[in-house]
Amino acid sequence: MDPRELRNVMGHFATGVTIITTTDKSGKAFGLTANAFTSLSLDPPLVLICVDKKVDCYACFEESKVFVVNFLSEDQEHLSKRFATKGIEKFEGVVHRFGKSGPPLLDGAMAHIECKLISGHDGGDHTIYVGEVLDATIASDRPLLFFKGKYYQLPQNN
Ligand SMILES: Cc1cc2nc3c(=O)[nH]c(=O)nc-3n(C[C@H](O)[C@H](O)[C@H](O)COP(=O)(O)O)c2cc1C
Repeated sequence: MDPRELRNVMGHFATGVTIITTTDKSGKAFGLTANAFTSLSLDPPLVLICVDKKVDCYACFEESKVFVVNFLSEDQEHLSKRFATKGIEKFEGVVHRFGKSGPPLLDGAMAHIECKLISGHDGGDHTIYVGEVLDATIASDRPLLFFKGKYYQLPQNN
């Protein structure tokens, strides 16, 4: 299958947008924009994320064994773009706090899911990480949506 055509077809799957945060072993925060997130199991409570083996913070997941999934709100498109940009100080000016697990929880996110990494599985150029949910909270009901490379919001009456 031609990779460009595959990317085009996959772009037709509408998703929300997350920023996954983690830390290195010294506690320094890292984060990346990701839409490869899935709720996996309720009992036990598990989620999965898919992380490109080339991301700058790739080693951090195994080092810290914790990550936070921040579901972005409709007004956080700028954060999605920021955390998908290589080589910048991503957290500069980004308001956040720390939860129980260690990685940052971004202010204004629609929901926060704090996870303990319990396994990693090879997935081609990505690694599939399974996380056990330690804590999950909702702050609003207005998600940022992503479809065919563009950002959308729900209609106001939803
Ligand atoms: C909407 C959107 C969704 C993305 N989803 C993922 C994803 O699920 N997994 C991933 O590894 N990268 C994903 N990316 C790409 C990363 O955010 C991007 O490569 C980022 O710069 C990687 O972090 P780094 O700069 O620390 O290397 C996505 C980017 C965008 C804009």
